[in-house]
Amino acid sequence: MAMNLADFYDAELARHNVHLRAAADVGVRDRVLDVGCGAGQTTRDAACVATKGFVLGIDTSSEMLEVARQRADKARLGNVAFEQGDAQVHTLPAAGFDLCISRFGVMFFADPAAAFANLGRAIRPGGRLAWMVWQSQEYNDEWSTAIRQALGLYDPIPTEAAAAFSLGDPATVTEQLSVTGFASIDFAEVREPVFYGPDVDSALDALTSFELVRTALAQADVPDAAMRRLRGLLEAHLTADGVFFDSRAWIVTACRAANQVQL
Ligand SMILES: C[S@@+](CC[C@H](N)C(=O)[O-])C[C@H]1O[C@@H](n2cnc3c(N)ncnc32)[C@H](O)[C@@H]1O
Repeated sequence: MAMNLADFYDAELARHNVHLRAAADVGVRDRVLDVGCGAGQTTRDAACVATKGFVLGIDTSSEMLEVARQRADKARLGNVAFEQGDAQVHTLPAAGFDLCISRFGVMFFADPAAAFANLGRAIRPGGRLAWMVWQSQEYNDEWSTAIRQALGLYDPIPTEAAAAFSLGDPATVTEQLSVTGFASIDFAEVREPVFYGPDVDSALDALTSFELVRTALAQADVPDAAMRRLRGLLEAHLTADGVFFDSRAWIVTACRAANQVQL
């Protein structure tokens, strides 16, 4: 399952990845921290550039990290390591990184202030962060709400899923980052669609492999009708290049203040 999920994310976010790579602008000697690295595509991308530096990917999921390690080994990357840990509290070397990147891996913190402080301590004064996060849910209705409604789920989105949008408000995040010692905080809009598959059948296969979708289908009053609605929705989003849903993200960039005292 972790392998499928990894492939799904990498395909889903292929267009987004191009923007993150450009914003991260990894240098050849950079020491890079990839937060919520999952199966590590962005970790490997960074390692391919930081050939005289190194990249550490951290994630809470041992399953995803297993895939990440296998893929980094297969790519023969000697400058990559992975650690299992919660970015809010995981022990990281003080000022040990020049750059902190993340592709949708920093929105799930129960205590963002603690997480930002912990990550801030790990970035050297003058170092940077480049994070991709979702904008607020209202701007991501097509994929977050339309699919739920096709499945017959009309209740407010569960707290766990809503966390994906927790860094969607630039004013709040700017405040949170500035109190933990970041400056030059900027939000660049990324308006790329998410990709669910080359055709409707593949998109349906991918979506029905998700626990949430399987559970909703199993609990639907008329599961066949819910499946037909889901198929209909995917058909409506089929283009010549595959099934796409509109989405909006931010790339958050910031700099660790150069005269920052390490707390
Ligand atoms: C949406 S996935 C993105 C994975 C990967 N960055 C990618 O783009 O394929 C979010 C990842 O964040 C990880 N995660 C969630 N909370 C975390 C935390 N507190 N510390 C570290 N990783 C976390 C999850 O395990 C998951 O792998």
